[in-house]
Amino acid sequence: MFDADKFIEKTIPKLQEEIKGKALIAFSGGVDSTVCTALVNKAIDERLVAVHVDTGYMRKDESKNVKKMMEKMGLNFRFIDASKEYYKALKGVEDPEKKRKIIGEKFIRVFEKAAEKENVKYLVQGTIAPDWIESGDSLRDTIKSHHNVGGLPKHMKLKLVEPLRDLYKDEVRKVARKLRLPVSERQPFPGPGLAIRIIGEATPERTKIVREACDIVEKEIENAVEKGLMEKPWQYFAVLLPVKSVGVHGDKRVYGNVISVRAVQSVDAMTCAYSKIPHEVIDRISTRITNTLKEEINRVVYDITNKPPSTVEWE
Ligand code: XMP
Repeated sequence: MFDADKFIEKTIPKLQEEIKGKALIAFSGGVDSTVCTALVNKAIDERLVAVHVDTGYMRKDESKNVKKMMEKMGLNFRFIDASKEYYKALKGVEDPEKKRKIIGEKFIRVFEKAAEKENVKYLVQGTIAPDWIESGDSLRDTIKSHHNVGGLPKHMKLKLVEPLRDLYKDEVRKVARKLRLPVSERQPFPGPGLAIRIIGEATPERTKIVREACDIVEKEIENAVEKGLMEKPWQYFAVLLPVKSVGVHGDKRVYGNVISVRAVQSVDAMTCAYSKIPHEVIDRISTRITNTLKEEINRVVYDITNKPPSTVEWE
């Protein structure tokens, strides 16, 4: 049985022992990075510099909200808009593993640059157990290269600190609750962001579409949960497919893109079951997506696969 109090008690002195100078943390605003930031901040205080990078693949208003949260937590923080750099690096790239590797590499490069400016020696990351288990090693197959693991360049100049490495998500949430962090119940969001929810090339235009669709899925599901219509899924989002299909607007033929809605229940993300969303909720999601994205989307489908054989994200 995981004991969050014991974990916090043991981790802080360990971090003080491990981190001898200034450290940098990538603060995405998700549960893992927020818990990690809070722990390391407790251990080394202002020697920790929290950096938020807007990769261009963040959810609607996310970077704006993260900035507010960093201010509220009283962190020593920097805000970097690297969206143009990311879009350029992913131009023409369709293969999911290549996308992941490029995003991971860029992530480290952006941080190395920030680290040089700040003169830091350590990079703190919120990597959790499923991230490295599924990224493969000599004993396991690579399912997908998780952002924090597979993308790491061989000759990284910074020393890695990963205090949550042995924890599963439900355990990270327990630590978040103990630390009274407002993010404890937030759904997970992958490091590569919306880029892996766009099948094929993750252009700025396609990102805009999936960002809007994800926002609609999140709002409608949260609304339905609040009204007691359904149980809160572990994760819920939209995926833009590289498929076009024929539809009709009024009396005009249209040829538009397809959005797949994904909502799953899980405990540790190693396995999951698709959520049995009530029809009235999925109905509202479909109508809102096709009304809001009239020019772009004319078909919405619901993903009814479990993990295995699929994974939570599509890439
Ligand atoms: P999959 O798609 O592998 O996802 O079944 C399991 C959980 O991990 C999240 N995920 C990631 N998280 N970096 C992360 O920090 C990543 O590269 C990454 N890829 C997937 C996914 O959203 C789900 O919660």
